[in-house]
Amino acid sequence: MSKITSQPTSPAIPEALAHARADFPILQRSVHGKPLVYLDNAASTQKPQVVIDAITRYYTNENANIHRGVHLLSTEATGAYEEARGKIARFINAADDSEIVFTRGATESVNLVAHSFVEPKIQPGDEILISAMEHHANIVPWQLLCERTGAKLKVIPVTDDCELDLADFDALLNERTKFFSIVYVSNAIGTVNDIKPLLAKAQAKGIPTLVDAAQAIQHMPLDVQELRCDFLVASGHKIYGPTGIGILYGQSNLLDTMIPYQGGGDMIAHVSFEGSTFKEPPSRFEAGTPHIEGAIGLGVAFDYLSTLGLEAIHEYESQLVEYAVAKLSQIDGLRIIGNPKVRSGAISFTMGDAHPHDIGTVLDTEGIAIRSGHHCCEPLMKRLGVPATARASFSVYNTPADVDALAAALKKTAILFM
Ligand code: ALA
Repeated sequence: MSKITSQPTSPAIPEALAHARADFPILQRSVHGKPLVYLDNAASTQKPQVVIDAITRYYTNENANIHRGVHLLSTEATGAYEEARGKIARFINAADDSEIVFTRGATESVNLVAHSFVEPKIQPGDEILISAMEHHANIVPWQLLCERTGAKLKVIPVTDDCELDLADFDALLNERTKFFSIVYVSNAIGTVNDIKPLLAKAQAKGIPTLVDAAQAIQHMPLDVQELRCDFLVASGHKIYGPTGIGILYGQSNLLDTMIPYQGGGDMIAHVSFEGSTFKEPPSRFEAGTPHIEGAIGLGVAFDYLSTLGLEAIHEYESQLVEYAVAKLSQIDGLRIIGNPKVRSGAISFTMGDAHPHDIGTVLDTEGIAIRSGHHCCEPLMKRLGVPATARASFSVYNTPADVDALAAALKKTAILFM
């Protein structure tokens, strides 16, 4: 990446997002006596007051088990839980609320699809196609499936810039391919993959698809009917919602055919010792008492995103990340890892021989939170020739001042380590 020497222009915060920062109470706190600069959003975002209030309100006013009681509290809790499902369906333009399954997160959603949709169809020698850019959550479930079934895991390579290398894509997507699972935005590098044509090719060959949208859904408008994916997964805690809740979107004609993932209460139609029958989706895949307040909080987080506006978020965050790339590329000794044409949310970097954990520790003393490590992407790190990186990742409440603070702290860090 070439050095930019002129002063980058700091982006203006648009009117629609001007008050976003004030919505997140945690951003008022200090860390080691310095104002908190939170740049670890790809790991987990902070929560706006409306989400915190929704959870408090649920436990203060509505708490009861859902789908089970005829009493008012249970009816209200059930209504709030199902209303959240509807909000999420509308947010991603699913054709029906029943296409949204609540899970513990993107990881559980991938495991659910692997177990309940893909595995029953697999014969030894069949292939599952992923890419070298995947998070471990979109690698390991498929590896386990391959071990159980004798299927083979095939991998689309990535270039030095950390783009998908599609030279052999048509050969990799062949008559043996039984499933194609692909990341939309790389959590480690920020690469935005142009997945629509890839999904279209799979669809033309009758190969079902899954999109890992864990790092996309909060940063850009997303429409599952326009993408034409069969499944899509995301985690609530990266979308300003609670931890331990996530979503699986699945086309209803596919969910209808799928076997349960877990057995237990609420997912059954009838149980006897001779055998059990199961509810229609999505209940079939939500065994046991679910994370009720998590779903309600996540619904409110999606409301919050909709109120700010995904177009405005996308445009502002893109400018902010571009500004950060420009500022960081001026720091002597700092190497930005990957150079994707379109980037969203994250910038990974190294500094000479400094261990990324040491970079993270020094930044922490300045009140700046970043992530360091392999970012749950060990194969990608290996491909890019680094054991680990430091990563700054951005969200709607980050400001140019946060980027300036990061750049200033990194300049001091460079003096320590270089
Ligand atoms: N997947 C999360 C990250 O990228 C944990 O940090």
